This record gives sequence, C-alpha cells and structure tokens, in this order.
Amino acid sequence: PEKAVAAMARQAPESLAELNRLIQRSEPLVPGATQAVLGEGPEGAAIAIVGEQPGDQEDREGRPFVGPAGQLLTAALEEAGIDRGGLYLTNAVKHFKFVQRGKRRIHQSPTAGEVKHYRWWLMTELGFVRPRLVVTLGATAALALTGRPVAVLRERGPMAFDGWNGFVTVHPSYLLRLPGEEERRRAQAEFVADLRRASALA
Ligand code: URA
Repeated sequence: PEKAVAAMARQAPESLAELNRLIQRSEPLVPGATQAVLGEGPEGAAIAIVGEQPGDQEDREGRPFVGPAGQLLTAALEEAGIDRGGLYLTNAVKHFKFVQRGKRRIHQSPTAGEVKHYRWWLMTELGFVRPRLVVTLGATAALALTGRPVAVLRERGPMAFDGWNGFVTVHPSYLLRLPGEEERRRAQAEFVADLRRASALA
C-alpha cells in the first residue's frame, strides 16, 4: 500500500475530473467490486459528507448513498432542512468489500490499512472540493480524517481535522441496526440534530 500511495501521488491529478478518472481505472484493493463509486456533488459545496464505503446497491449503481443507509441519510438531511443536491457526498473507501452468502453480498467493514490506502484519494478529492466543513459518518470516516480511532458516540460534534473544520457523527447504517423502535427513533432524532448543528457551522 505505501508503494501504491507513492505511485498515486506521482500521478498528481490537476482536477477533480482527472482524479476521478484515476480512481475509476484503479483496481479495488480487495477484489470483487463492480466499479469504483466516486464522490458526487458540486465542487465548492459548503459541506462535504464522508461515509465509509459503497454498499451493495451503490456498487451496482455507481453512485454514493443510494441504498438503505443512503435513503435514511437523505431523509435525515431533508428533516434537517438541508438540500442533498447542494452537498458533496463521498466515501473514505471507494470500492465495495463483501463476502458472498448465497445470492447476498454481505458488507465487510474496511480495515485500518485499507482506509489508509484510500486516504490519499480522499484528501486530494477534498482539496479540489474545498468545503467549509467536513462531516464524517461513523468510525471509518472519522479514522480516515483523523488518523486515529474515534469513539463516535462519545466524541460526536465539532472536531478539528488536519486542515479541515470537521464534525463527527454516527453512520446511518448504525441507526438501521438499532433493535428497538423507541431507541431507533431517539437516535435518528439525535442524528438529525447533529446534521442541523453541522449545517449551522458551515
Ligand atoms: N454507506 C456508506 O458509507 N456509503 C455509501 O455510499 C453507502 C452506504
């Protein structure tokens, strides 16, 4: 991976479009993904939202946050009064990683080493987008931006990332996994409150 990072840096893309071509042409670190899922949204967006990695549906469609977690995110943004189209949405890792169980492809979280491998791309991408605020969803994205393990439930809120004003919150897939209806509703309300608070900081 270190060698791969050095090789990518030598490619020094001069635009987001050029960076995206490099990402599209790259092999997944772990084989299996259909395609790289690129970031989406306007350059110069005030807020960039960074997720973990594309899921099953994102891998098929080639767009970030279109599956169940993405739909929850979209609904939460709407509830917080934030226009999804005005945001830049991307992921710490650009390829879906999974294990096959029968017909189902079960998501596997990226390792710290995999996050590090993809980090140069993410940082270069954010350098082109230049958001005023970077919002991380969940532990993987927070790790990508800080370089350390982050306990998102304890540390949620504003956080200075290296070179960026940041905001840490939970991942929507965590909200989908909460067992009780009541608990899920409360956690979703807290997520919406986080998005509102982040938006006020941008
Ligand atoms: N979860 C993520 O972190 N990113 C996506 O694009 C979809 C689901």
